[in-house]
Amino acid sequence: MNISKTLITKDEITEKVKAIAARINDDYRGRELYVIGILNGSFIFMADLIRELDVDIKVEFMGVSSYEDGTESTGKLRITKDIKLNLNSADVLIVEDIIDSGVTAARLVEMLKSRNLHSVKVCALLNKQSRRVNDFTADYIGFEIEDEFVVGYGLDCAGKFRQMKDICVVELD
Ligand code: IMP
Ligand code: MG
Repeated sequence: MNISKTLITKDEITEKVKAIAARINDDYRGRELYVIGILNGSFIFMADLIRELDVDIKVEFMGVSSYEDGTESTGKLRITKDIKLNLNSADVLIVEDIIDSGVTAARLVEMLKSRNLHSVKVCALLNKQSRRVNDFTADYIGFEIEDEFVVGYGLDCAGKFRQMKDICVVELD
């Protein structure tokens, strides 16, 4: 596997993160927001996004695993790390790196809704609409991308390339 091209530069990402945060700040003004990053892919986006938020937030991470060292979803969602916060009546924002098939996000929303939340929304830096297998739509989306496998800014391919500052396309062999 090789990096074939840069798709989104770090400057474009920075600008987009600020724009998304501005919308979140407007939407949750005066409320307390529970921001839940989905590990591992969202950790860099999460770190940048929350530092642009000026509403009251609490930060948590959840671990889910649906890919086993490959590029195709196994269709199963395994919770590898759960949250400790009591989410009763909370406004929750799930932060994802990318929505691909939509399976992970749809299952997460369904699972969190069963915990008596006040509201749950999903924020994803990237969206691959053409890969969707359900009708899931994220509430905040950074960039729409084509059906290409991307890495960098937290996203990996079999665990590699998370530290890259730009988002790049990987050539799969
Ligand atoms: P979904 O359940 O198919 O929507 O999968 C979402 C998860 O798959 C994301 O949180 C990523 O971890 C992973 N994923 C999907 N597409 C890519 C990609 O192009 N690069 C890296 N990870 C990806
Ligand atoms: Mg991943």
